[in-house]
Amino acid sequence: MPQPAEVLSVRSLTKLEKVFTLRLGSKKRLHHQPGQFLQVSILGVGECPISICSSPTRPDTFELTVRRVGEVTAAIHRLEVGDVIGVRGPLGRGFDPSLFEGHDVLVVAGGCALAPARSLIQYVLDRRDRFGDFHVFYGARSPEELLFRDELESWQADARVRCLVTVDGADDTWRGHTGVVTRLFSQWPCHQPARTKVAVIGPPVMFKFVMLELIGRQIPERSIFCSIERRMKCGIGKCGHCQVNQLYACQDGPVFCYTELATVREAIR
Ligand SMILES: Cc1cc2nc3c(=O)[nH]c(=O)nc-3n(C[C@H](O)[C@H](O)[C@H](O)COP(=O)(O)OP(=O)(O)OC[C@H]3O[C@@H](n4cnc5c(N)ncnc54)[C@H](O)[C@@H]3O)c2cc1C
Ligand code: FES
Repeated sequence: MPQPAEVLSVRSLTKLEKVFTLRLGSKKRLHHQPGQFLQVSILGVGECPISICSSPTRPDTFELTVRRVGEVTAAIHRLEVGDVIGVRGPLGRGFDPSLFEGHDVLVVAGGCALAPARSLIQYVLDRRDRFGDFHVFYGARSPEELLFRDELESWQADARVRCLVTVDGADDTWRGHTGVVTRLFSQWPCHQPARTKVAVIGPPVMFKFVMLELIGRQIPERSIFCSIERRMKCGIGKCGHCQVNQLYACQDGPVFCYTELATVREAIR
């Protein structure tokens, strides 16, 4: 059943993306894992899955980043402070932070997937003493498509994390790295592959090349966790919209261990 959630603030990130801060009507906490999603409903318009982009370590409110692509996301973009929407969830399986604790951590994000990755990044920063070396690699097509630029800058200035950002195509203002996200791997020391956990979130085209880098550095397949995006309808394993062979992305995922996906190549192509 959807529960009401009130919009507390709205902020534009790019021409297409806005971030919404919300609070459950009952002031209850979501109790989510990074990587989980909500089915967000707008009365009279419809419902769509949106990842929770804030960390459960900041539990009083939660945030959603929404890219305007169609009817439901356009209706979400029209929301104002004080409006109430419906949310179902948290749904699916996210990144289990306890599996990352005690390990070096690398988060690789591409495009608008920085939104779900941000939840895990905030989590590691908020519980920093539980993790080893922490790297974040983020790639976008162009500087204007980078999400959370202010936070990227603060992470880059933060000695507790090494955050590297690259764009495929630079403009005159860009002073950072250029090229695809895998180019950043040359700057990853990866001192102890057996004690490293990796989260990969991005478009399917990114996965193949990121996996080649990770496997080439002897990261065990069981230490690699990927979030995949499939079309979804019900979000609770009833309709089959998100099915990849024997897996339901909405219930078994969207976060999978690479060992689970290795047999379902189509999920990451
Ligand atoms: C687990 C999960 C988490 C997601 N998290 C986010 C998020 O944090 N922020 C966000 O903005 N979006 C997210 N999405 C995608 C979002 O659900 C879709 O963009 C939304 O359903 C589009 O609804 P619409 O009515 O606005 O557009 P529609 O009219 O339904 O679609 C508009 C266009 O988007 C395409 N599209 C719709 N759904 C998807 C999809 N799942 N993958 C690729 N293309 C799609 C359609 O083919 C069409 O071209 C997520 C999807 C999943 C499955
Ligand atoms: S979305 Fe219906 S089964 Fe996954």
